[in-house]
Amino acid sequence: MDLQGLIRRLPKAELHLHIEGTLEPELMMQLAERNGLALPYASIEEIRNAYKFSDLQSFLDIYYAGAAVLQSEADFHDLTYAYLDRAAQDNVRHVEIFFDPQTHTGRGIRFDTVIEGISHALEDGQERLDISYRLILCFLRHLTADEAMATLESALPYKKRIAAVGLDSSEVGHPPSKFKAVFERARAEGFLTVAHAGEEGPPSYIVEALDLLKVRRIDHGVRCLEDPVLVARLAKDQIPLTVCPLSNVKLRVFDTLQQHNLRQLLDAGLCVTVNSDDPAYFGGYIGENFLRTQQALDLGIEEIHTLAKNAFIASFLGEAEKARHIRSVDEIVATIL
Ligand code: ADE
Ligand code: ZN
Repeated sequence: MDLQGLIRRLPKAELHLHIEGTLEPELMMQLAERNGLALPYASIEEIRNAYKFSDLQSFLDIYYAGAAVLQSEADFHDLTYAYLDRAAQDNVRHVEIFFDPQTHTGRGIRFDTVIEGISHALEDGQERLDISYRLILCFLRHLTADEAMATLESALPYKKRIAAVGLDSSEVGHPPSKFKAVFERARAEGFLTVAHAGEEGPPSYIVEALDLLKVRRIDHGVRCLEDPVLVARLAKDQIPLTVCPLSNVKLRVFDTLQQHNLRQLLDAGLCVTVNSDDPAYFGGYIGENFLRTQQALDLGIEEIHTLAKNAFIASFLGEAEKARHIRSVDEIVATIL
């Protein structure tokens, strides 16, 4: 079996996936029709043609507009189940999914509509597709800390269903320090924490996320290489980075996949994982992220093996579950050694 065949067969964990970013143009049109909404696009092709981004903000503007078709519990269920069904094709065994409640509550959709739809689909996916899951509530960092705190409060009745809180949306100008009190409260309520940092923002945002928000993982984190002291810390503490190669190229963090720094991150001894971020917008699910990155950077079997294991190590699964998945990764790799 060649390396690409191995990649297809490897059991995978996806740790950086915005459920709103899995809204494929076909489903967007169906939901617009179901909900009697007019889209600014006449066809699927026109939607796809609009997906040309110059930076994070140019993507977010289109992404938030697209999410407006999501209105009922059934819409959130169908979105989430469609993603799980697609993930199963890539042999994804475990997902840790972000959702952005403020994208929906800000346009009058109730918090419970969002979480009921998503969590019922996750339960269905566990039962029918054998994909385990955790749910991560992300605060939109371009909004105020008070709004994030109110969102946290509306999530408290659903605490048992939400493993962690995170931070996403427009990074530059919205440092982690803005959300220190919100994350303190979240931790006191028993949530784990993660944060997007060092995607477009400086390495100092990664340091803030670690020191002030006490995050267990950094989402993206690719700009850490600009600060050698930070790199040494991330390596020593094995703080996972949830890297999203195709996203980084689409949003112009790197001009080409060949220029991506994933190999340097691995060489620095960091716990790097490969993820898809917003696959409906960035042209590839997790399998495609692995396949294209392997080719672009000429990654070898050892590197692919490490990346696949890291995803389970970096997950919020219990130790026994992690060990079970890592054994199955090792078994598949052993078949081609
Ligand atoms: N929301 C969805 N995708 C995102 C990304 N890549 N960075 C920040 N916020 C996001
Ligand atoms: Zn993201």
